[in-house]
Amino acid sequence: MTIANDIQTEQSYVFQASVDKLGPQVTEGKGIYITIEKDGKIHKNVLDAITGAAVGALGWGDEEALEIMDKSARASTYSYPCLISNKSSEALAKFYIENSPEGAFSAALWCSSGSESNENALRIMRQYYLERGLPNKVKLMSRESSYHGFTLGAQSMSWNPRVEPFEPYLMDRKKINIKIPCAYTYRYKKEEETEEDYARRLIDDLENKIVSNDPDTIAAVVVETLPGSSLGTTPPPKGYLKGIRELCNKYDIIFYLDEVMCGTGRCNPNGRLNCWENYLDPCDAPDIQTVGKTLGSGYVPIAGVLIGPKIKNAFLNGSKAVVGGHTYSCHAFCCGVALGVQQKIKRENLTSNVFKMGNLMGEKLKNTLLAKSNIVGDVRGVGGFWSVEFVKNRETKEPFDISLGVGPRFKAVCFDNGLSVMGMPGNPDGSCGDRALLAPSFIITEEVVDDIVGKMVKSVAELTDELKSEGIF
Ligand SMILES: Cc1ncc(COP(=O)(O)O)c(C=O)c1O
Repeated sequence: MTIANDIQTEQSYVFQASVDKLGPQVTEGKGIYITIEKDGKIHKNVLDAITGAAVGALGWGDEEALEIMDKSARASTYSYPCLISNKSSEALAKFYIENSPEGAFSAALWCSSGSESNENALRIMRQYYLERGLPNKVKLMSRESSYHGFTLGAQSMSWNPRVEPFEPYLMDRKKINIKIPCAYTYRYKKEEETEEDYARRLIDDLENKIVSNDPDTIAAVVVETLPGSSLGTTPPPKGYLKGIRELCNKYDIIFYLDEVMCGTGRCNPNGRLNCWENYLDPCDAPDIQTVGKTLGSGYVPIAGVLIGPKIKNAFLNGSKAVVGGHTYSCHAFCCGVALGVQQKIKRENLTSNVFKMGNLMGEKLKNTLLAKSNIVGDVRGVGGFWSVEFVKNRETKEPFDISLGVGPRFKAVCFDNGLSVMGMPGNPDGSCGDRALLAPSFIITEEVVDDIVGKMVKSVAELTDELKSEGIF
């Protein structure tokens, strides 16, 4: 049988997502709209409110991005980065450093995915402590309901149901990985606490864990500034990140932020790049930070590790060389495209635009969805990254049974209404409810915001009615 015949029978030759049938395929994208081929039908003008997985910044099929790609392809010659570097990777690193608060970062390494950037951050941290003669600093403290990627090192730092089946291949999760509580104001801040009290409680708990696990053996505290798929854009309570920074200073531990999903302009209040600028002063910048997604805006696979002066200086005062590398690290074509994309975003103030329009979208969603009786328990987020959490009971915050698949069902209802969102299931232990994530392109206008909100409100009303008729809500 030929491949062409098999394709007619809707079989997939790609080993990804659904194995038994051909899943939905994107066939076109223009601006904020995508065309999807699904079950033999063409769906045109689907409003893309999630841009893949919070990847798209410029909008799809951007003419200038295509020119940038053409120019970058013509200007690039491959070289093995450990032996011969290239000018595009240098220029992109300089751009990121110069568009971050002064003194925050002093070097960058470019990788091909967010997972790979977290793997590299682990290696860099290990070498950092070896350079300083501190070989026992190996433990990694990371949070419940976190996601740092799908490679083995990144999974070892992640605590969520997607990781559990792979435990046998992970680091020694009892000795090396220390689970700390997530910061989840909606569910875990006590009624009588202020946000600051809650943050203080988390910080006190963290300090107790640092002390009881021997600070001399702890390498890093790893946190997603604004958690994405695993918890749904729950902003850190006031004082929380600053509290971690202070503990890291006190106990000589690396403060490590994962901004793969929330960073690179998606949630920056100053028209720049980093999400943490919402919560931290420049002097409290992380020591190491990973980024990805919007860096290449879906036009090229690129992610990165940003390295603070403390870490770079240890290398400068030590071996002066980074051990190892990947064949496609700092790829000239990808770096050239990412730089061109970021320059365009800066020139057109698109980061400020998505911050303003995203916050408007969040406010409108809160005002409309929470004003009515429906399955929505919480609406939360910052700038261009928002989530809606679904609950069976708004008063008690009781989540839906995950077997009902409310998050994925909501995604399907939205799709029928011409809106693409990410629908995530809740945690099996009830520690987090089903949710839908929104991360639109940076080019959205007020009109698009209203369209997204209108489609969300309609979809919530429809799913609420469906669940009512099934006796579930
Ligand atoms: C916070 C965070 N870190 C790391 C990753 C992994 O990135 P990638 O899928 O590019 O490997 C993701 C992906 O969603 C993420 O959300």
